[in-house]
Amino acid sequence: MKHLIDICDLSVSELDSLMEKAIDIKNNPEKYSEKCKGKKLATLFFEPSTRTRLSFEAAMYELGGNVLGFSEAGSSSSSKGESVADTARIVGCYADIIAMRHPKEGAPLVASMKAGIPVINAGDGGHHHPTQTLADLLTIKIKKGGFDNLTVGLCGDLKYGRTVHSLIMALSRYKNIKLVLISPEELRIPNYVIKDIIIPNNMEYVETADLEKAIPELDILYMTRIQRERFDSLETYERLKDSYILNRAKLNNAKKDLCILHPLPRVNEISVDVDDDERACYFEQALNGKYMRMALILKLLGIDGKNIEKNTSEEELCYDYKCENPRCITSVEQELPHIFKKSDKDNGVYRCIYCESKAKNN
Ligand code: NCD
Repeated sequence: MKHLIDICDLSVSELDSLMEKAIDIKNNPEKYSEKCKGKKLATLFFEPSTRTRLSFEAAMYELGGNVLGFSEAGSSSSSKGESVADTARIVGCYADIIAMRHPKEGAPLVASMKAGIPVINAGDGGHHHPTQTLADLLTIKIKKGGFDNLTVGLCGDLKYGRTVHSLIMALSRYKNIKLVLISPEELRIPNYVIKDIIIPNNMEYVETADLEKAIPELDILYMTRIQRERFDSLETYERLKDSYILNRAKLNNAKKDLCILHPLPRVNEISVDVDDDERACYFEQALNGKYMRMALILKLLGIDGKNIEKNTSEEELCYDYKCENPRCITSVEQELPHIFKKSDKDNGVYRCIYCESKAKNN
């Protein structure tokens, strides 16, 4: 059974073929309009969403399939205390594929272990959001022709912004990418992203708080929203919420072919006067997300092309530690086994399989 839990579940060549397929779907929609006839997608959204959920649903309808599901935890049995594992097992009896969004890190991984059908992570807490990365990559590919040698600015909430974590993971596999990580001190990229992804892949990077100074050298500027729902203190959010506001004036020194991306929704970090600038690509990016999700559904259902070829080499698992990350799915679902795996990237340290937190005393 194949799933998409983090973006590295897809190899670079699989990403290439998904992008090729998405472009073909975009150009020849009628060729694909019955490919998923008789198939059902379940959208299990325990957290709010507009683009991700609706683009998954539109994707399935445009492939001739059907959709069932819920758009908030309150309308599912999780409000009665049902576990993610049980929900997934039940939905596996009713649908052919699941797209799941959940506030806890690792919840879609738990679902993938129990559902018996392919599971797509549509965002798990502040952790990963691989299908947003599919939209980002296709847009970059269309605008820039490829990924090597780009200087990519990521700006805003780099701490809680899951889209940023997944995008860095994806970009780490291309050549000579320079990252400019622009955030307030409190919202800097998590240390594990630097230690496990950026450094081992020899990516050049700088951290700065100054957007305007960074702009002139950028090929891509990826703006993000300050993630209010993930803050422990509303006061800190209030202090940081207006850290960056991109407007036309700030683009005066930008490259003529800068590509401005944003996973959306925006609050005020891109002012509307930027929308008409030809460098603003974020609405096109949202549309590209639908085509990439169509290509992904076809792939995971094995309808068009091969399913994901995941490296199934034996992983060294360990059951002796307890995950202490309050954002991990294990913090709310007591019956879940705490499982850690040895990470090659950092010399045999054990990490929680759900949220990647390090085992304590390790
Ligand atoms: C993003 C998300 O949910 O992480 N939105 C989306 O899926 N396009 C970004 C965000 O909410 O800020």
